[in-house]
Amino acid sequence: MFNIILFGPPGCGKGTQSEKLIAHYGLKHLSTGDLLRKEMKDGTPLGLEAKSLIQKGQLVPDEVVVGMISSALEANPDVPGFLFDGFPRTVAQARALDNLLDLKKTSIEVVLALQVNEEELISRLINRAQTSGRMDDADPEIQRNRQQVYKNETLPVAEYYAKFDKVEMIDGEGTIEEIFSRLQKSIDTKKGLAS
Ligand code: AP5
Ligand code: MG
Repeated sequence: MFNIILFGPPGCGKGTQSEKLIAHYGLKHLSTGDLLRKEMKDGTPLGLEAKSLIQKGQLVPDEVVVGMISSALEANPDVPGFLFDGFPRTVAQARALDNLLDLKKTSIEVVLALQVNEEELISRLINRAQTSGRMDDADPEIQRNRQQVYKNETLPVAEYYAKFDKVEMIDGEGTIEEIFSRLQKSIDTKKGLAS
């Protein structure tokens, strides 16, 4: 299995690049944000609990997202690998993920960390707010809160994986195609396929 974490702040392009990566490499895309939005749309108890936190730009409890990921891993035993998007977002989630993958005799190969300056992030999210219908896009204050939560709670995840020498910084500015090609290069090198 070849498992990747696509890492970076809100608006850095995780969802956009995930679509291209799964089409190219046949990986199973696991986005906790998408899974939570589905629960909210279906009006499940979990969705209702998540809604009150997501609309403030706060994180959903670790055990909730770890439970969702655990079920998704079990439900997809035969995929060539997973692409994690928006997960793990705390060091506790990272440790839980490592344990879950360990049980499956696999691990994270690489953490691809998209680098985008904050002004660009905010401008992308303001643009997206016009069409996304996402309640956490609409209000600039919530957007700022999401960036702050990222710095406080999620950046330490990169430090955690850096200790295992798994983090690769990728320039996340430029066209979608340019960024995709940087990601591809990095993955192919890791896979030993680069010519
Ligand atoms: P989540 O859905 O994961 O959102 P996020 O991390 O805040 O990131 P976004 O989806 O906003 O951005 P993205 O990086 O995917 O960028 P995108 O490709 O869309 O999480 C939402 C909430 O759910 C969290 O706040 C939390 O409450 C909860 N949650 C989720 N996971 C959790 C977890 N593990 N633990 C606890 N809570 C959790 O691009 C953004 C925009 O930019 C798009 O409009 C796109 O078209 C555009 N764009 C993309 N690339 C480019 C480019 N190169 N140039 C110009 N524009 C571009
Ligand atoms: Mg996303």
